[in-house]
Amino acid sequence: MSNSLRVIVVAMVAVLAAGAFWISRPSPVAVQPAAQSASAETIAVAMPELSAAEKSGQVRYSMLCAQCHGANAGGTMQGPPLIHKIYEPSHHGDMAFLLAAQNGVRAHHWNFGDMPAVEGSNDEMVAEIVTFIRAVQRANGIQ
Ligand code: HEC
Repeated sequence: MSNSLRVIVVAMVAVLAAGAFWISRPSPVAVQPAAQSASAETIAVAMPELSAAEKSGQVRYSMLCAQCHGANAGGTMQGPPLIHKIYEPSHHGDMAFLLAAQNGVRAHHWNFGDMPAVEGSNDEMVAEIVTFIRAVQRANGIQ
């Protein structure tokens, strides 16, 4: 066997050994159930197809509100679901959303504590967020 052929054979054996090790290594540990429940939403929310405007509201919502109200507004341990009869338009009109983001909310419907004013939000952003929330509410029979 020529020297260069020997080098190639050795290299191939090394690659095969590495491959066997890669395949036989234990699979990654599954996500901790505790971590899952901390981010889980309080209620299951059906997500509708969103229009472009609703989608931009969703992006703003994810940045400013989802931390407490849940990715799909189904609520978390930090805040209530907004996809809830309490927040239907006739009980909490769009103005209630503007005021909540601007001034915060003193706890009165739930036991999550007060909602702080949302830093970095303005009326235009909240109007977009409301468009998103109303679409999800409608898809869940809240109107
Ligand atoms: C730090 C957590 C937190 C964040 C962030 C947050 N909220 Fe809240 N929000 C709450 C809690 C807690 C309540 C419940 C207060 C109560 O007991 O009625 C609430 C209540 C509300 C209400 C009901 C207001 C009322 O008049 O009863 C609206 C509307 C609302 N949030 C919208 C938003 C919007 C929109 C955003 C993002 C721009 C947002 N929230 C971000 C925690 C939060």
